[in-house]
Amino acid sequence: MRTQVGIVGAGPAGLFLAHLLHREGVESVILESRSREEVEGTIRAGVLEQWVADLLVELGCGGRMQAEAHVHTGITLQYERQRFHLDIEGLTEGKRVTVWPQHEVLRDLIAAWLAQRPEGIVFGVRDTAIHGADGDAPYVTWRQNGETEDRLDCDWVIGSDGFHGPGRRSIPESVRREFQKVYPFGWLGILAHAPVAWHELIYARHEDGFALASTRTETIQRMYVQCDPRDDLANWPDRRIWDTLHERLATDGWSLTEGEIFQRGIIPLRSFVCETMRHGRLFLAGDAAHIVPPTGAKGLNLAVADVLVLSRALVAAYRGNSTELLDAYPTTALRRIWKAERFSWYMTTMLHRDDGETPFEQRIHMADLDYVASSRVAQTAIAENYVGLPFDAAT
Ligand code: FAD
Ligand code: DHB
Repeated sequence: MRTQVGIVGAGPAGLFLAHLLHREGVESVILESRSREEVEGTIRAGVLEQWVADLLVELGCGGRMQAEAHVHTGITLQYERQRFHLDIEGLTEGKRVTVWPQHEVLRDLIAAWLAQRPEGIVFGVRDTAIHGADGDAPYVTWRQNGETEDRLDCDWVIGSDGFHGPGRRSIPESVRREFQKVYPFGWLGILAHAPVAWHELIYARHEDGFALASTRTETIQRMYVQCDPRDDLANWPDRRIWDTLHERLATDGWSLTEGEIFQRGIIPLRSFVCETMRHGRLFLAGDAAHIVPPTGAKGLNLAVADVLVLSRALVAAYRGNSTELLDAYPTTALRRIWKAERFSWYMTTMLHRDDGETPFEQRIHMADLDYVASSRVAQTAIAENYVGLPFDAAT
């Protein structure tokens, strides 16, 4: 097979990129190691920044979201059993966020992509390997169902294959510049058949740890509690999960309605940036290059931001025969990435319990929350980041 852009990974980064390139007349093929059912069934992020929701509509893939998703004009922060409303819409000149789960976004992107290009994704690839990135003729090889090796020749390869994919590892370790912070806590996430807990998301700091009440539909709710990242789900029977949520989200005059928990999982929290986002004709995008802890709901949005910048650069390379924007891609993308890293780290440290911190540091987080609760300027800083920072004019 031959195409212009070879994309490894059909997550948000890979699928948005394929659509963005296609509408500008640049062709691509996506190679994905999981099955379509697995990709469309994996529960991950839930909050879209306004421009991402708008982009989904522009790409013709936003119909179900517009009909079914919850649009939120604010978030609620809670500490010391008190809640306060952060008026995102009022603080950002009318911007909002959309609570619409990642797998629903992917479902519509995949269906539209296959309708346009039935051979545009190969699912279930094994042994994916990227070759010749530092030459003029890169290619990707893989196997399917234990058969002989297949090969995709292309002009550029995009590693949008998540944190554990082969994209980043195809860049020699000796030239990779990486930065990491691993947090001593994780999130236990659940989906439950229950009524909406509150009219907007609640991010709560409690002396025992963080809790987050989010939503999916009128009857399905998404909740998270801070836990040990190495903990076993067997240690979290339903009773303990609900007791923990009741305790950490408690406030006067409100109670949480329980329901059947039908999905659960534990994720570790880390911040990570690989600044080497280009190696010859290989570019990294999304989780392949960076991870944020989920407290600011940035992971998916940042992946889409990368490929928006990258798609413009690739299109410019084909149209104008100039690689100036491609050469600038890591620098351009990293400016936004580091700001999202900062915000996600800030929200995470402010809202979680970390037994490794000194009592002084813990007091600082309480002062931070007190400041946010009382200062419009501090609230504006959170709101501006939460809805998504603007792109630099140059991109
Ligand atoms: P991914 O979505 O990881 O997509 C990469 C794709 O590449 C995958 O489909 C993978 O199967 C494929 N792939 C991997 N290896 C290969 C290979 N060898 N060959 C071919 N394909 C390959 N963010 C939030 O904002 N809020 C959340 O609550 C939240 N929860 C999360 C829970 C989990 C368990 C995880 C892992 C992430 C979560 N995130 C969350 C982060 C968010 O989902 C990611 O930032 C987002 O998925 C990044 O998109 P991506 O396209 O870069 O990578
Ligand atoms: C959800 C996930 C997040 O990381 C977040 O900050 C808010 C909501 C969710 O899955 O709904």
